[in-house]
Amino acid sequence: MFSFASFCALFFAFASAIAAPAREARAPEFRAPDSFCVVFSTSVPGTFVVNVTRALAPLGADHFYELVASGFYDQAAVFRVVPNFVVQFGINGTPAQNRKEQTPIPDDPVAASNVAGSIVYATAGANTRTTQLFINYVDNSFLDSQGFAPFGYVTRGFDTVQKFFNPTPGSSDGVDQGQYEANGNAWIKAQYPSISFITKVAILP
Ligand SMILES: *[C@@H]1O[C@H](CO)[C@@H](O)[C@H](O)[C@H]1NC(C)=O
Repeated sequence: MFSFASFCALFFAFASAIAAPAREARAPEFRAPDSFCVVFSTSVPGTFVVNVTRALAPLGADHFYELVASGFYDQAAVFRVVPNFVVQFGINGTPAQNRKEQTPIPDDPVAASNVAGSIVYATAGANTRTTQLFINYVDNSFLDSQGFAPFGYVTRGFDTVQKFFNPTPGSSDGVDQGQYEANGNAWIKAQYPSISFITKVAILP
């Protein structure tokens, strides 16, 4: 489906997710429930629900639970939208919050395929997962062999996920992630007034 050239461009776009993972990966201290659902409210407007199955990627699921519970994904801009491929988010709108979350978690083995609607961490190579996530718009199972380990699926509201504003049509890289990390929501709103936001994320009881 993708030419080799565009494939490489996409791979390097993922790689730019994390500039230089200086810290050694460390497993989360919290253990998530075996299964839990998370509702994402968005500025699209609309909501979507992710059903996490811990067994698919236990460390990824544990860390995701912690990040959601701490409000990390609230008011986070949707900075990379690549039609027919993925949507990526998971940089906090407050630069200090990003600086607190630089310690990566170790990889999980890939137990589920990158099918449409699956959610997975962006990486910059082995053991570099921190906070950035992407949702596969289509079947991207070619990513399985690159170590991308989905930990859940969008079970409701995939139409909302498909309506995110694309801030960089024609470029699969999305918004400059370093600028957004460093300068936060004031910067991204000024640069891209129509940018979509994840407004609130909550674990369903
Ligand atoms: C979430 O997924 C698990 C595993 O597939 C399933 O047992 C559970 O019913 C699902 N929960 C919801 C609310 O869809």
